[in-house]
Formats: sequence, C-alpha cells, structure tokens
Amino acid sequence: MNKEIVTTGFQENGYLVIPELFCATEMEALQCAALGIVEQFDPESTRAIFSTQDHDKTKNEYFLTSGDKIRCFFEEDAFDDDGHLAQDKALSINKIGHALHQLNPDFRSFSLDPRIKHVAKLLGLQAPQIHQSMYIFKQPKIGGVVRWHQDATYFYTDPISVLTFWFAIEDATLVNGCLQVRKAGDRFLLKEQFIRHSDDTTELVTLHDKPWPEDNDATPLEVKKGSLVVFDGLLPHFSAPNLSDKSRHAFTLHITCATTKYAETNWLQATPLAI
Ligand code: FE2
Repeated sequence: MNKEIVTTGFQENGYLVIPELFCATEMEALQCAALGIVEQFDPESTRAIFSTQDHDKTKNEYFLTSGDKIRCFFEEDAFDDDGHLAQDKALSINKIGHALHQLNPDFRSFSLDPRIKHVAKLLGLQAPQIHQSMYIFKQPKIGGVVRWHQDATYFYTDPISVLTFWFAIEDATLVNGCLQVRKAGDRFLLKEQFIRHSDDTTELVTLHDKPWPEDNDATPLEVKKGSLVVFDGLLPHFSAPNLSDKSRHAFTLHITCATTKYAETNWLQATPLAI
C-alpha cells in the first residue's frame, strides 16, 4: 500500500474519507460486473413475487432469503398493477445484494483487497469478517431517499463493532444524492434494532426517543470516484433522492469483528467471509 491512511478524527466524527484510494479502472471493473448481473437477470423470474396478492409477505421473503445469494432489488413502484416492469430493467434496479463478496469473482477479489483489511484493522477490527455486500445504483431521477438510520440496527454485535465500507463507483455529490452524516457531537446511542423473529416476521424496535438530526444540519460527503468512506455502526446517516440525470453508483461492505457476538436476531445469518 503506497497511500498513507490517516485515521485522525474517526473516533470523534464516526467516519473517515480516504479520497481516491482506488483507481478509476478498479471502479469501472466493478460497475461492469454489476451491469453484467443486471443484464443476466430476468425480471420475469420474480414477477410472481411482485404481483402476488400477499405482496408484502413475499417481498419480505425475497429479502430475508437473500443473505447468501445475489439478487436484484427493484426501486419502489418499479412494477405496474399487473406485475410488469413499468420502465426499462436497467433503470428499475435499486440494488444488488447481499452475497456479492462470496459468489461473484470480481466482487470477491475486490472485497479481499489488502487495502480493505488494512483499513479495517487500523480502525480496530482485530478479526474483520464481511457479512454483507451491496451494489447500490441510486438511479437518475428515481433513486429514492434513504432515511436516517444507523447500520448497527441491522448488524448488531455485542459489543457493537460493525463498520460500513462505502466505495464511490462514481462521483457522489449533493446533486446526485451523496451520503450525508450527522455532525460530530455527543454520542448517539443505537436508536433502532431490526429483529428477525423465529417465525421470520421482522420488527423494527425503537430503543430511545432522541430524534434524528435535521436533514439540513447534516454533513454531506461529496467524494470522487474511487474514494472510500468508512463509518461506524452508530453514525446516523441518510441520503436524499437523486433528482439529477446522473446515477450515483456505490458498493458497500458491512464488516464486523469476529471476536464480538453477532446477534442471532439479526436478519442476515449467512456465513461471513473472514478477511
Ligand atoms: Fe446505511
């Protein structure tokens, strides 16, 4: 590794930006791999799921059984009432998840890049392990809002250890819906926990009443293609809708420390990839 990584401020701010840690070619290879998955994907294969009368239940099953698979997830309202895509497939996908790091050769070799392990260790994960990967499209015009949340809500460990690695596949700006994070301040304890019950129903449990920050009080993280943003599981963050005509592709990894106890109530129970 020839790029010095300065971790100053991570403890205080809850996040770290490493500008252009990866080169454009590396990002374009991932983009190409993601577009290839979409190209191969037959939306008719999931038509039954999205046209069923019990839509919410089957949609939830599609999500809950995706932890060890590569699946395409659609933007809200991508389908019409008959279960047909309302617009072109390539512009209808919200994200691909959640085992790209295990199953796709391009994403797997990227996830095993020594730079990622190095940063994880620098930031305190003694035994980093990847639980989840997602390729996020944030489509032009229709890429929806992602509300305020903390990622430890979905990857609870005791003690909390999850770090999110967010790679800018394309330039991310305020205009195309970049990440926005809470300004440094007093500790913001875990506000919600997403629980998967034994009968595969799910519940978002509220743990305290402190309100989320105001949107206009957030710090936007505008970053260039190839940059890495790492943030801890307690950092509140959101992204606004993408109203521009430019996509904002990103790849994310959720990494915990194997020396902590991963909750049996987390929705995702696939075997993690040690790095
Ligand atoms: Fe998040």
